[in-house]
Amino acid sequence: KTYKITLLPGDGIGPEVIAESVKVLDAVAEKSGFALEYTTQNAGGAAIDAHNDPMPDSVVETCKASDAVLLGAVGGPKWDHLAGALRPESGLLKIRKELGAFANLRPVTVPASLAENSPLRPEAVSGLDLFTVRELTGGIYFGEPIGESGEGDDKKAWNTMVYSVGEIKRVARVAFEWARKRRNKVTSVDKANVLAVSRLWRDTVKELHEAEYSDVELDHMYIDNAAMQMVINPRQFDVILTGNVFGDILSDASATLGGSLGLLPSASVGGPVGLFEPVHGSAPDIAGQGKANPFAMILSVAMMLDTLDESAAAAAIRAGVDKVLDQGYRSGDLWREGNTLASTTELGDLVKNA
Ligand code: NAI
Ligand code: MG
Repeated sequence: KTYKITLLPGDGIGPEVIAESVKVLDAVAEKSGFALEYTTQNAGGAAIDAHNDPMPDSVVETCKASDAVLLGAVGGPKWDHLAGALRPESGLLKIRKELGAFANLRPVTVPASLAENSPLRPEAVSGLDLFTVRELTGGIYFGEPIGESGEGDDKKAWNTMVYSVGEIKRVARVAFEWARKRRNKVTSVDKANVLAVSRLWRDTVKELHEAEYSDVELDHMYIDNAAMQMVINPRQFDVILTGNVFGDILSDASATLGGSLGLLPSASVGGPVGLFEPVHGSAPDIAGQGKANPFAMILSVAMMLDTLDESAAAAAIRAGVDKVLDQGYRSGDLWREGNTLASTTELGDLVKNA
């Protein structure tokens, strides 16, 4: 089997971490018996420089014609004077939308070797492995009507939180499917004690669960309690399923648990082609110095392989990253007394060999 992969290295540390992830991907492909066909395209600032457009339609077409897209990061000071549709970030929004990516997946893992880096007590996060499935194209960020009226103290503004049964079902399915590949548990987070839209959310998730996923353990939690549980005992979670705004806040909170952005992968999926990218940005402060942590990008490749049903290759990548961390190698963002400081390419080589 041959997979067509579009690479969008982008800007800053993007090309550096993409290079290491390709190295690792090639190694697992060889071992697992599948092949890869890469097409590299400009995105973000690099595409502005080359085509005066952060996401040219030709690049979108290439992405749509592939099996998956890997994106490094976009943006940087060089393009900060630009506005609106010409900004690097608007290229990112465009490609997510064009690919129909309605589910944003954000796993957070804290291997025992990194527990000391967490803002929480090491014993509260050691071995943590949670996975947020956030609805990405609906809810209060997109609902109509939006408006403003009146003057002075009577001035009002409003947004609308709206979900259809179809929107809830399709993202809930993503969560149940991932739970089956993990520890088989979904926690659906809502505010059903107060919001009508959350009652529809909860009822729809329950019905889908009974009809198609009764083998998966399901529980429901209010968002305020979920936020508290995230700080007290995050290890109770396997897959968290939630809407756009709750997921935005909760997944950012969960992202701090491991101590560095440089470790966190993500995927935006739901359409025919998934987009896989680290949570971090282009890190202009360390770009071009070999200081970037490539693990977030490498772990994004593991998510891509899971989505392509190459789970053994995905597991091999995760095991490789864990091994290198266990051996004490760290980029600067994670380095502590007693660790061995390693460059971006050294870390990529170590994972490849592991
Ligand atoms: P950032 O994530 O690029 O950097 C924040 C801090 O974390 C910096 O100190 C950076 O050195 C560090 N850091 C990030 N990734 C790292 C890694 N892999 N290894 C080691 N250290 C790492 O966020 P910032 O500074 O807010 O944004 C910089 C540029 O990136 C901006 O132009 C922003 O718009 C863009 N950006 C792009 C994103 C994307 O392409 N998905 C996401 C976030 C920001
Ligand atoms: Mg956010």
